Amino acid sequence: MAPTTCLCIGFLLLLGHGSMAELQAERGLGLEPVAPSSSCEFTFDKLQPLEPLPKLKAEAGTVEHFNDTNHQLKCAGVFLIRVVVDNRGLLLPSFTNGGALIFAIKGSGFVGVTFPGCPETPYSHLKEGYVATVPAGDSVWIYNDGGKPLEMLVLFTTSGKANKLWPKNRDFILAGSSENGRKNIFNGFTVDFLSESLGISHFLTTKLQGPTDKRGPIVRVPAGLTPEQQPWLPASNSVCGTKVTASLEDPKPQGTTLLTAYDFPALKLVGLSIERGALKPNASHASPIYNSNAQIVLYVTGGSFRRLQVVDNRGVAVFDGVLRQGQPLVIPQYYVALAQAGKDGAQYVVFKTDAYPVTHYIAGWGSVLRSFPVGVIAAAYNVSTTDALKIKNSGGWGTPEK
Ligand SMILES: *[C@@H]1O[C@H](CO)[C@@H](O)[C@H](O)[C@H]1NC(C)=O
Ligand SMILES: *[C@@H]1O[C@H](CO)[C@@H](O)[C@H](O)[C@H]1NC(C)=O
Ligand SMILES: *[C@@H]1O[C@H](CO)[C@@H](O)[C@H](O)[C@H]1NC(C)=O
Repeated sequence: MAPTTCLCIGFLLLLGHGSMAELQAERGLGLEPVAPSSSCEFTFDKLQPLEPLPKLKAEAGTVEHFNDTNHQLKCAGVFLIRVVVDNRGLLLPSFTNGGALIFAIKGSGFVGVTFPGCPETPYSHLKEGYVATVPAGDSVWIYNDGGKPLEMLVLFTTSGKANKLWPKNRDFILAGSSENGRKNIFNGFTVDFLSESLGISHFLTTKLQGPTDKRGPIVRVPAGLTPEQQPWLPASNSVCGTKVTASLEDPKPQGTTLLTAYDFPALKLVGLSIERGALKPNASHASPIYNSNAQIVLYVTGGSFRRLQVVDNRGVAVFDGVLRQGQPLVIPQYYVALAQAGKDGAQYVVFKTDAYPVTHYIAGWGSVLRSFPVGVIAAAYNVSTTDALKIKNSGGWGTPEK
């Protein structure tokens, strides 16, 4: 499969006189077509909500991974964790091999992202409903000054231009140790070599390595922390001044809000976008929908979906069930989904693996069915013209929930 894919892209490049290349450059580190691995071939024949694994505790917070036994996240080219930083907790700096998108579910704090070659990194405020982007290879730290736990979902890309190795999330920690006991990068160097190179004492070098530090990736800062750098200012227009946070507004009931690279250019650097949606109690979406250029990770943050059906190209429901809060569900591109909220409604976020996601509606304003001529519908479904009109105008007259 892989060589064919490569040939096709080469062919398109020739045909398009490099327009595809320009498009890719324009899209920064957007996801390349994932070379289909044979182990992913049947992964999406049955979708499964992922269950959280037991929380890994650090000194001032927790990190939660998800049980991805069927490799659904991996085959979608992403990795997801849920992080809770306690008040006055600091998530120690690290960098990863993929772009990351952070969504703050609850709480507030600030985030610092280091761009290479930039002398001072501005920090940005992060609060409930805010999004932060971290380009691949750039270091990030997060501090909670909000007085209550800061709860975040972090989605990383694992396959794309940013990672040319086997598609697997790798985070490189710069201080302390990871939640699963991995050491920081300084540990791998010998003390002599490192102290000579940095021009610091052996004592300080061993502090960097922190061999006996058992605090994990989130540490307590008892006296609190006030960043000495400047907060982000809108005036700066160099890469160093790239704004890394943005607000993703709370959607109205039966509505959605969307953040793409059109509104928030930093998303281009990570090749991701995000949507929030809300459904009233027992209400369903007005139309089945699909995304044509992005894999999706759906996560319910409040309430539940009492019924969610996802259909593949065989016309088979690869998922038909309930989706509860805290269970991520991977929905592949083109797979068509329809959801209904539970008795307490549903609030959810949708991570998308493209900075410019394209969503298609089957019914309603601007939809597939609405675009077909009545005659085509009558013939296709073997119905009268009157019934064809009913089908054409199904899904409501209004604009799709935006
Ligand atoms: C992950 O889920 C599978 C079944 O879905 C289960 O058999 C397995 O024990 C789970 N793994 C962990 C570590 O909980
Ligand atoms: C939603 O459905 C449940 C069960 O069918 C019902 O008990 C409840 O009253 C409904 N709520 C609303 C707001 O319609
Ligand atoms: C089309 O609909 C008509 C009228 O309902 C019915 O008699 C006919 O058998 C249908 N044709 C097919 C192929 O289903």
